[in-house]
Amino acid sequence: MFRRLFKKTEATYKVSIPKLSVELDAPCDVTILEHALMKGVAFPHSCRVGTCGTCKARLVSGKVYELTDKAYTLSADELRENYVLCCQSMPRSDLVLEVPVAPEAIQRTPVVERAGEITALRKLTNDIVELEVKIDEPVTYRAGQYCEIYVPGVIVDEVHESRSYSFASPPGNDPVSVVRFHVRLVPGGAFTTWLHTEAKVGQRLEGHGPYGDFWLRPGKAPILAIAGGSGMAPLKALLEQACADGEARDVKYFFGARRQEDLYCAQEMRALEAAWLGKFEFIPVLSGEPEDSDWDGARGFVSEHVRTVLGDRVADYHVYMCGPPPMLDSAEKIVLGAGVLPANVHADKFYDRSHTQPRG
Ligand code: FES
Repeated sequence: MFRRLFKKTEATYKVSIPKLSVELDAPCDVTILEHALMKGVAFPHSCRVGTCGTCKARLVSGKVYELTDKAYTLSADELRENYVLCCQSMPRSDLVLEVPVAPEAIQRTPVVERAGEITALRKLTNDIVELEVKIDEPVTYRAGQYCEIYVPGVIVDEVHESRSYSFASPPGNDPVSVVRFHVRLVPGGAFTTWLHTEAKVGQRLEGHGPYGDFWLRPGKAPILAIAGGSGMAPLKALLEQACADGEARDVKYFFGARRQEDLYCAQEMRALEAAWLGKFEFIPVLSGEPEDSDWDGARGFVSEHVRTVLGDRVADYHVYMCGPPPMLDSAEKIVLGAGVLPANVHADKFYDRSHTQPRG
């Protein structure tokens, strides 16, 4: 059994999601999303904190208890039609839910539980380390997905026992035994502080996954990639895998950082520029670099720079973006405002304790 993310309870209700061919016995004090994920259901989701709307579902029948005010996230029409956010809803009766996505659009890589040990810890910037883990049994995942990691005996916070990290290495075509993650030090975050200050090679870890619906969709449109901070990880995996698979669509990859010392993986991105079949352009953009430094690249906020460079041509792209919510919210406004269809905008927002909305 997967390690429970919340305290144990006795009361359970039947949750039916006919579109996913799913029937769950769901405990009343675990969110529908967490329980579905623990049971290996590839339920669409992203932020898990009630702000992205990816996990929305129409409550056809039944009652839920909601942890946060969904009115900030759902539209007036969705509220009228009785939509709920499954990452914020716990069952209070038997439920029937309708998810607004086509079943064929849902990723069905099986979720598995694994253990392994740290084989390397490499400092990438002042506040990001690369964590390399050798897993006891190989895993299969799609480039862009993430998993949950926990360390027996290490406290994460008062509610969760694990943390979500995107695979930073491409999976290739066979199950893999060595995986890498980029872990940013979150001020006040117990798990990331432990990882940055105490974790050692040889330390045992446990985890389960893969999760998430951030992966490269087939298509002909050029790719616009936008990332910031450790948002590099899923995009790096996604683009490296696409390159290995012979993807030939043109790519523009805008990466936002504060200063030169916050840039990383530039060498890997230059390697992609050289190996990519089409045209691949990696464009770092610095928002806090001193005016008098030797930096001769782009300056300013990454989303604004996208607008400056591409203008109306943004509409021609399919968009993949990862990073902190404020950056992605701003980028999302720009790309949707330019006419990119919402179905062609794929975002993986990285939430930490500084980004969760107040409990209602
Ligand atoms: S709102 Fe539920 S996963 Fe984002």
